[in-house]
Amino acid sequence: MPTRTDIPAYRPDLYSAAAIRDTHPHYVRLRALGPVVWLTKHKVYALPRYEQCKAVLLDDDTFVSGEGVALNPIANRLGQGTTLYSDGDDHARRRALVAHRLTPRALRSLTAAVEEKAAEVVEAAIARRAVDGAEMAMALPLSVVPDLVGWPQEGREHLLRWAGAAFNGLGPFNRQAVRTLPSSLGMMRYARRVVRERSVLEGSMGHDLLCAADQGELLPAECATLMIDYLSPSLDTTISAIASALHLFATHPEQWRLLKEDPGRIPNAVNEVVRYESPIRAFTRTAARDTTIAGHAIPKGSRVLVLYGSANRDALEWEAPDTFDIRRDAARQLGFGQGTHGCAGQGLARLETSAILRALVARVDRIELTGTPEWALNNIIHRYERLPLQFIPA
Ligand code: HEM
Repeated sequence: MPTRTDIPAYRPDLYSAAAIRDTHPHYVRLRALGPVVWLTKHKVYALPRYEQCKAVLLDDDTFVSGEGVALNPIANRLGQGTTLYSDGDDHARRRALVAHRLTPRALRSLTAAVEEKAAEVVEAAIARRAVDGAEMAMALPLSVVPDLVGWPQEGREHLLRWAGAAFNGLGPFNRQAVRTLPSSLGMMRYARRVVRERSVLEGSMGHDLLCAADQGELLPAECATLMIDYLSPSLDTTISAIASALHLFATHPEQWRLLKEDPGRIPNAVNEVVRYESPIRAFTRTAARDTTIAGHAIPKGSRVLVLYGSANRDALEWEAPDTFDIRRDAARQLGFGQGTHGCAGQGLARLETSAILRALVARVDRIELTGTPEWALNNIIHRYERLPLQFIPA
């Protein structure tokens, strides 16, 4: 059996500002090195290929989340009590408390409002002609998610900054994480106050949690954590997918024509966008026992880094992985995770991204890039910070 010394090492920092802004060349080199690569800087086993990422996500008995899915011990402690950081029955119990709000059936009641808002967002963008697609991508998630989670109006202006900071904190404890730590703590204080003052919106997810605490199904302290649990992953991720979709259709006019010819391709186009520019770069798991990955020994207690963004461009799994093609079957992409911890909010994310695409397809002839886009500096979220565009009406 191969031993640790057989595992290739990679020295560059995957979380440096340069690597965050230009991440795919690192993934290419990691995949070429093998199925398991030791990241010298972060002391973690990286999994750059599709097969091993999927296998680890599906084997949640061996590769656990309860010790945190971040890359630094502070975040792995602070996030205790969340759905994301739990295993087995604890995980099932926490997920069941609110996941029913996000089932396709539950989301049906939101569909009309989401489509209407998407039409407004697109019409405003057409009217302005020159827009920042990164900013435009925020409008829909910010109008849907805070009401669903139940945050009071007061304080909402900080939610996006707090959620972005929470993601930054899940990478290594580097400059980005330190810079945004006060914002992460701000969200925790806000959530505790909202729970203490019971100021959540009536009938929202947060309200369900308060009721569950009243009935003794969870501790009051868990309410705030679980509210954050659903807020943090629900904004930046979808904003990333919407902005990437805008960029990809602006830079691939032939794909835009295909989508306009057949809007029935929208659900698969969303999968292809999430495959091509996976909004979440990577999360970790901890080996609960001595095990192996692709024949390499992984000792108990080791951390493995599941690189969703790299798995989704693996040539061993995808034909022409660097080609954006909405006709390929992209349904098995790993951008929403897989298995027990597979994204609880993907129905909502798909609904929002599809609604924007549908509104665009109906109203826009072409999307044009009018300047150089810039990637945001975030350890976990792969999204545009600036995306100058113009929309040419149909
Ligand atoms: C394009 C948008 C989105 C992407 C790419 C995305 C991606 C992911 C990924 C990769 C995971 C798995 C984490 C793991 O393996 O440990 C995850 C989990 C999760 N996501 Fe999403 N997400 C998106 C939108 C949302 C939205 C809109 C919500 C909430 C309304 C949400 C709520 C959650 C929650 C609660 C979990 C934890 C599930 C669990 O641990 O059981 N996500 N997401």
